[in-house]
Amino acid sequence: METTSRNLDTSPPSLVAETILSEKEKSDVKFQEIPVVDLSNPSEELVAHAVVKASEEWGIFQVVNHGIPTELIRRLQEVGTEFFELPEKEKEAVARPADAVDIEGYRKMYEKDIEGRNAWVDHLFHRVWPPSKVSYTFWPKNPHDYREVNEEYTKHIMKLSEKIMEWLSEGLGLQREALKEGLGCETAEYLMKINYYPPCPGPDLVIGAPGHTDINGLTLLVANEALGLQAFKDNHWVDAKCTTSGIIIIIGDQFLRMSNGKYKSAEHRATMDKEKTRISWPVFVEPNLDHVVGPLPGLITGDNNAPKFKPHAYKDYKFRKLKKLPLD
Ligand code: SIN
Ligand code: FE2
Repeated sequence: METTSRNLDTSPPSLVAETILSEKEKSDVKFQEIPVVDLSNPSEELVAHAVVKASEEWGIFQVVNHGIPTELIRRLQEVGTEFFELPEKEKEAVARPADAVDIEGYRKMYEKDIEGRNAWVDHLFHRVWPPSKVSYTFWPKNPHDYREVNEEYTKHIMKLSEKIMEWLSEGLGLQREALKEGLGCETAEYLMKINYYPPCPGPDLVIGAPGHTDINGLTLLVANEALGLQAFKDNHWVDAKCTTSGIIIIIGDQFLRMSNGKYKSAEHRATMDKEKTRISWPVFVEPNLDHVVGPLPGLITGDNNAPKFKPHAYKDYKFRKLKKLPLD
C-alpha cells in the first residue's frame, strides 16, 4: 500500500495526518535505542559532548536527570490527560475557531475524514511564551490547576532548551549564545501541543503523525507510558523509548540549517498503541515568523565552508515547506 511515512518534506508540527505502514516497513522497525544523555553527570564537558554527538548522529535523543522535577512532569501529564478525558462539550470551550488562521486551540480530529482517511488523534495547541503571545482563551480552565502547572513547566523547559542550545553552539566551535542569536531567542516562541491518540485496534493502521522532520528549531517532548514515537535511522524505524519523566529532544529544521548541516533534523513519526491511549506533550521552540534563519555566519567563513542552505524568514520557510516549494 502507498505510504506517506517516508516523506522528508512533510508536515510541520501543526499538521495532523495519517499513514498506513506496509508489511515491509513494519518489519523494518528495529529494537535499537535512541541515545540517552544523563544531564546529572558532574562533568559538563562530557554532557555537552554527548548532546552534540547525539545531535550529529541522530537528531533525536532522550535526556534524563535533567533537573525538571519528576512531580511537575507527572502533574503536567495529569492535567493534560484530565482535560482530554472531559466530555466533548467541555473541551470545546477552548476549541480552535473554525475560521482561524492560527493553530491555537483544541481540535477533534479523531475519526474525522481527512483526505479520505480517518485521523487518529485529537490535539490542543497553545503558546506558552512570550507573555505577549500567550492567549489564555486556549488554555483549559478545567482542571483548575492546568494553567499553574503549564506555567511552571514552561519556566523549566525554557531553561533546559537554552542550555541545550548553548552546548550545541559550543559544539559548532562558536560562542555559547550563537544558536540562540541565530534563532532570535529574544523574540522566539514556545508552543505547547498535546497529542491524544486513542488505542488503534487495526494492526495495519498507523495514524496520527506520519514521518516528518520538525519545521521549528528544537522540540522537547514528554509522553505517557504508551510507546509510539519512532525515529528513522540507518534505513530503519527505531522506537524512541522514553521514561515517563525523561524528555525527548528533537532537532528541527532550523537547527540543521543554522549548523550548516552539522546537526541532523531527525525524521520521526508517531505510531499508535493497540490497547492504550498514547499522549504526548511536545513543546516547539520556534523563531518569530519574521526572523530570518540561515547558516550561522561563524560557520561559513573561508573557502571550504560554503553555505549549504539559503536563509529564509521563518514564515517563508514554513510556507515553502508546506507547499513543497524549493528551499535551497
Ligand atoms: C509528532 O512529532 O508530530 C508527534 C510526536 C509524538 O506524538 O510523539
Ligand atoms: Fe514532530
